[in-house]
Amino acid sequence: MLPKVILHTEVSVDGRMDWMLDDGFLYYRAIADWQVDAIISGSNTMLAAYPETDAPEMLAAPAPEKAPGLQRMLVVDSQGRLRCWRQMQQSEWWGELTLLCSNATPPEYVAHVKSLGVDVIVAGDDHVDLRAALEEVTARYGVAVIRTDSGGTLHGALLRAGLVDEVSVLLNPCLVGGISPRSTFVAPDLSSQEGAIPLRLLEVSNIEGDIIWLRYAVSKA
Ligand SMILES: NC(=O)c1ccc[n+]([C@@H]2O[C@H](COP(=O)([O-])OP(=O)(O)OC[C@H]3O[C@@H](n4cnc5c(N)ncnc54)[C@H](OP(=O)(O)O)[C@@H]3O)[C@@H](O)[C@H]2O)c1
Repeated sequence: MLPKVILHTEVSVDGRMDWMLDDGFLYYRAIADWQVDAIISGSNTMLAAYPETDAPEMLAAPAPEKAPGLQRMLVVDSQGRLRCWRQMQQSEWWGELTLLCSNATPPEYVAHVKSLGVDVIVAGDDHVDLRAALEEVTARYGVAVIRTDSGGTLHGALLRAGLVDEVSVLLNPCLVGGISPRSTFVAPDLSSQEGAIPLRLLEVSNIEGDIIWLRYAVSKA
């Protein structure tokens, strides 16, 4: 069975995910009362948050105890790029970690991650087969609802795979501009309207100051 996936994102009014004006972590404050079981992030998102490699003394120390009730963090990294698992384990923002990787992930990387006490799910031959991985997440942990905490690339993979049920967009009241693909949905260009994902409005609210929050259900065929 697949979990419900909520794509939660904050963008500028022109749809960019970078260089937005500071709003005091509204991205997290807005969803403080959400009941989700797990969070999913991509490797670029984690690299942006944790650019430093785990220090040897950090790795030598035992894994930190997690407070009960924190959501599981699912991290997609088929290429074995992350060297910050101990730092991620020390975060107060989530609970236990799971690496989602594929058969292409270097075995020594998987062994390293497991040695730190991190659970591992292998799905797919190249990139992670997200559908299979999420089915396993539900089977293994009883996870019913997941929200994203990621950039446009993982969003794009989840959306194109038809795995997103709801889209939650906080509109940061600014215009950023730019030509790089830093939108909330990064995926190969369509060649027609076929493939555009229809949405049904669930809620629109002006939650704080000039900030608008849009929530949509994804209409599935
Ligand atoms: N404004 C916001 O709301 C917000 C929230 C979170 C993050 N961010 C920002 O977003 C930026 C990072 O975003 P990003 O778009 O560069 O990367 P990302 O969303 O972190 O996604 C990268 C991940 O997508 C996976 N992926 C790509 N194509 C795939 C496919 N076809 N199937 C399965 N998995 C696939 C990659 O897997 P592999 O492991 O196979 O490479 C990689 O792990 C950071 O700067 C971060 O600060 C913004």
